[in-house]
Amino acid sequence: MRVLFIGDVFGKPGRRAFAGKLPALRSSEGPFDFVVINCENAAAGFGMTKSLMEELFAAGADVMTSGNHIWDKKEFVQVLDEEQRVLRPVNYPAGTPGRGFGLFTKNGLTLGVVNVQGRAFMPPIDCPFMATENALNELGATAVLVDFHAEATAEKVAMARYFDGKVSALVGTHTHIQTADNAVLSGGTAFITDVGMTGSHSGVIGMKYSSVIPKFLLGIPCRFEVEESMPRIQGVVIDIDDETGRALDIRRVNMSAD
Ligand SMILES: [Fe+2]
Repeated sequence: MRVLFIGDVFGKPGRRAFAGKLPALRSSEGPFDFVVINCENAAAGFGMTKSLMEELFAAGADVMTSGNHIWDKKEFVQVLDEEQRVLRPVNYPAGTPGRGFGLFTKNGLTLGVVNVQGRAFMPPIDCPFMATENALNELGATAVLVDFHAEATAEKVAMARYFDGKVSALVGTHTHIQTADNAVLSGGTAFITDVGMTGSHSGVIGMKYSSVIPKFLLGIPCRFEVEESMPRIQGVVIDIDDETGRALDIRRVNMSAD
């Protein structure tokens, strides 16, 4: 199967880039059996709303993963309990709304998806290694994609090594800067430290430079504004052997959406 994973869709420029460029990607890189996107920044950089979720499903997403920002819009927390195709990180404590993994079937193919969050320079939650291990046991799927939403490159590499051969792909999100280390590891797991961001690439990881800089210069809280210029769509295309679940290839997507 072929899976398209799209990196953090950021605000309106990101949503527009995803919807606008998916048809071109389908013809140049597809067809895709599954389109998975990280949606935690879809609502002006902070979380999700029900209407934006519907917009992104209508634009072509099959499954959405998220991260620490998925809690930013209070009204969306309930949606996480209702909509099985939108995941939040699996390693939040028991009792947290929503779910962190799921089994998705399309055109006779089944893909397990796990969303998990790092702990280095992130809020202290449960162990991502053990939580992923438990999710894999419950899923029992041959083909599994893991979105590891984490800040530190070392934590992401360590997760990829630990799960090499146990999942089809482990892709990093959250830093919004696409890394150039996409590779199939020796055990057959496709890995990239960070898939990048779908949104404006002229600001500071999605926000206007002018709205961010006072935070750095003065240390005072700022009201961030979404940057709109130089939109790009970034992510990866992953080919998975349906029989074994091993990754065959992982290629970067990095395209102007102007
Ligand atoms: Fe994040």
